[in-house]
Amino acid sequence: MIKLVNISKEYKSGVKALTDINLHIHKGEFVYIVGESGAGKSTLIKLLLKEEAPTSGEMYINGVNVTKVNNRRIPYIRRNLGVVFQDFRLLNNKTVYENIAFAMEILGADPKDIRRRVPVVLNRVDLSRKSSSFPEQLSGGEQQRVSIARAIVNNPPILLADEPTGNLDPDNGLEIMKILNDINARGTTVIMATHAKEIVDNLRRRVIQLKDGVIVRDQKRGGYDE
Ligand SMILES: Nc1ncnc2c1ncn2[C@@H]1O[C@H](COP(=O)(O)OP(=O)(O)OP(=O)(O)O)[C@@H](O)[C@H]1O
Ligand SMILES: [Mg+2]
Repeated sequence: MIKLVNISKEYKSGVKALTDINLHIHKGEFVYIVGESGAGKSTLIKLLLKEEAPTSGEMYINGVNVTKVNNRRIPYIRRNLGVVFQDFRLLNNKTVYENIAFAMEILGADPKDIRRRVPVVLNRVDLSRKSSSFPEQLSGGEQQRVSIARAIVNNPPILLADEPTGNLDPDNGLEIMKILNDINARGTTVIMATHAKEIVDNLRRRVIQLKDGVIVRDQKRGGYDE
């Protein structure tokens, strides 16, 4: 599903954020990316999103070599990927419903499909009753649930999450994890960069640990620490 071969990323500043990353993630896996601040977790996610380009190496998504594609094709690659960030990134002038619908509209979805699908994902994150609220009227946990609904509304096979619980208290973090687990149980591959030791230790999954841009551990059902 995702394959990285000898991927390195050096930013223009000269920082080597990733060095010689080899990684194979299969369909349906749930993978934590852990490591100290600056280890390269977000860089790895940005490469998959094609927000940054690798300096060398090859990347494959669903068997397609996406290392060098022209900008016009990037939207087609992104259709495979839902994404959730630490800071939610909702549109504040749109309601919950509109935020989610918008993700379908930009892909040219049929209005009928939008009206059918948005309530389904709202229900999946348990926010049906907040459909017409604006983001600033919601708690942090609720905002993150909206951003998850938006990320999955187009049914992407892969969900990327960069510290999705980073701005939340433990209870809300756990709520987010239940939802991500549920999404994974329905077949979506989930890749989550995180600092949340408690979550990684309690919900054991594959752990990939980065240190100074290098994979130092890749463990089935690992904990946060070695
Ligand atoms: N746009 C950029 N330009 C130059 N250097 C960058 C850029 N983005 C990140 N870096 C550097 O690349 C390295 C890896 O950064 P990255 O954001 O991937 O780390 P991280 O593991 O996500 O850290 P954190 O846990 O703090 O989010 C760091 O040394 C960082 O300073
Ligand atoms: Mg980061």
